[in-house]
Amino acid sequence: MPDLLVLKMNGVTMEVPAGTTVAVAAMLACMPCRTSVSGTPRGPLCGMGICFECRMTINGTQHGRSCQILCEPGMDVRTDE
Ligand code: FES
Repeated sequence: MPDLLVLKMNGVTMEVPAGTTVAVAAMLACMPCRTSVSGTPRGPLCGMGICFECRMTINGTQHGRSCQILCEPGMDVRTDE
């Protein structure tokens, strides 16, 4: 059984297994990573840090490539900021 850690996704508290990327946490929360300028929900495409479709605000830092960042306890993740 993997260790669980707690973070906030758009202000909602959630638990994810240790080793989960922020992009996967967003998918588990059924939230898009961001919304395009035309209003289309966007999510991870490449999963390896190239496409930038998974940009999110992580601990106040904008445009983090969430597919490359592991969740940490107490992390504050925001979409569309
Ligand atoms: S999914 Fe492509 S950079 Fe994250």
